[in-house]
Amino acid sequence: ASLAELDDSVPPTNRVQDRTQPAAGAATDHFANTPDTDPALAPNRVWGREILARIPSSELGNELVADTTVTELHELNTIVDTAVEHSGEWAALGGSGRAAILHRAGDMLNSRRAELLEVMAAETGKTLDQGDPEVSEAVDFAHYYAERAKDLETVDGATFVPAKLTVVTPPWNFPVAIPAGSTLSALAAGSAVVIKPAPQAQRCGSIMVQALWDAGVPREVLALVQLGENELGKALVAHPSVDRLILTGGYETAELFRSFRTDLPLLAETSGKNALIVTPSADFDLAAKDVVQSAFGHAGQKCSAASLVIMVGSVAKSPRFRNQLLDAAASLNVGYPGVATSQMGPVIEPAAGKLLGALTTLDAGEAWALEPRQLDSTGRLWSPGVRTGVAAGSNFHLTEFFGPVLGVMTAETLEEAIAMVNAIDYGLTSGLHSLDPAEIELWLDTVQAGNLYVNRGITGAIVQRQPFGGWKKSAVGAGTKAGGPSYLMGLGSWVPAEASA
Ligand code: ALA
Repeated sequence: ASLAELDDSVPPTNRVQDRTQPAAGAATDHFANTPDTDPALAPNRVWGREILARIPSSELGNELVADTTVTELHELNTIVDTAVEHSGEWAALGGSGRAAILHRAGDMLNSRRAELLEVMAAETGKTLDQGDPEVSEAVDFAHYYAERAKDLETVDGATFVPAKLTVVTPPWNFPVAIPAGSTLSALAAGSAVVIKPAPQAQRCGSIMVQALWDAGVPREVLALVQLGENELGKALVAHPSVDRLILTGGYETAELFRSFRTDLPLLAETSGKNALIVTPSADFDLAAKDVVQSAFGHAGQKCSAASLVIMVGSVAKSPRFRNQLLDAAASLNVGYPGVATSQMGPVIEPAAGKLLGALTTLDAGEAWALEPRQLDSTGRLWSPGVRTGVAAGSNFHLTEFFGPVLGVMTAETLEEAIAMVNAIDYGLTSGLHSLDPAEIELWLDTVQAGNLYVNRGITGAIVQRQPFGGWKKSAVGAGTKAGGPSYLMGLGSWVPAEASA
């Protein structure tokens, strides 16, 4: 949407959000982003401390949600058949009918914010400051896609025929917003949904689905399956009744799932290896803050995270920016989310394999400017790492690691820095810190990534304002952007009105 189209007419009471008061329902005739919790309000700090008190301070834990666990193929087949059977009733509600239920779902999700924050922290180690905007994003998806569902009714001469059944397989790193956004998009389009939450985040998925059921989405139309066994996951994705798969995960996972059924249309948001470029014209204070937040928020476990910072020209040659960056990274308090002072949480699995290598070994020419330290016996708690001397074409330049380690590259010119970004197989998010309009224009014209951010961190896309999706190996299948105007179009097809009658 252009700036002129964005609706900023949210009443001020909605912007300063006191979580101890009942939230006003969102408007049902236009979309406005939901505010995050405002910690400047004293009651919200009390509210936050009550949540913290319920979160373990030294471990993570997840458990299967027993009543939705599926262990037999025939059970799975019954769930799929039931969803397909009832999908016509859901589609027949029309965009406006579905929108009313989805708006209610947004309000339900918002009203369960405290519970979602607690479970996200317990299952995935997400600190409250990271979890709170994630709940807002889930709420935004509900209200945004509700409004987009209405658009599906308004095209002359053509009717939108939704997919009958969409399977949703979300990741653990955004265990509320991504499952919610994917599920809500398919429901908004008029499709039934079977969702299989990530095994590490089953309770998050379950609370999210419960909120949608409570809002009036029929259980037959939205089924939750917790799978204890890999073969059943494959059976679900390969099931001939499935029309669409919405997948967020690694590129290899998307390719694997595609191999299960090559004719199944996929909407997959996959891996990233994202860089932030800093030029000599940048506001260094802002750049240092944005690099650190983008690299180490949620311990770097975001497909959108900054894994590389590329310093251009004199930025690399003077110690000023480098010292600012290292001081900011070194000052982060690392700890489990139940501890109020934690600014960076644990990695979800004890570091092993590729990630352990990135935290403990250097390649030729590299050095630790800030060496990661293992802080407890679980293997999950690491202090942030910054490696310098990352060479073009090296392993660290080109590989996604998904953890709290940032690589520093240097370039003589902005053009050279952009070439370094474009040499990467992935293209999800990318950032530029520069106050020079000509540099900004050059970068916008030539850098290859789905989401481009100027003078801002590169994580935390806002629904409607920054529709989210990748390019190159960061997307597989339909390359439409989540939280943007065309996402629902990938979940059905337009046919001439007479043909569908
Ligand atoms: N949508 C998430 C972000 O922008 C992945 O960080």
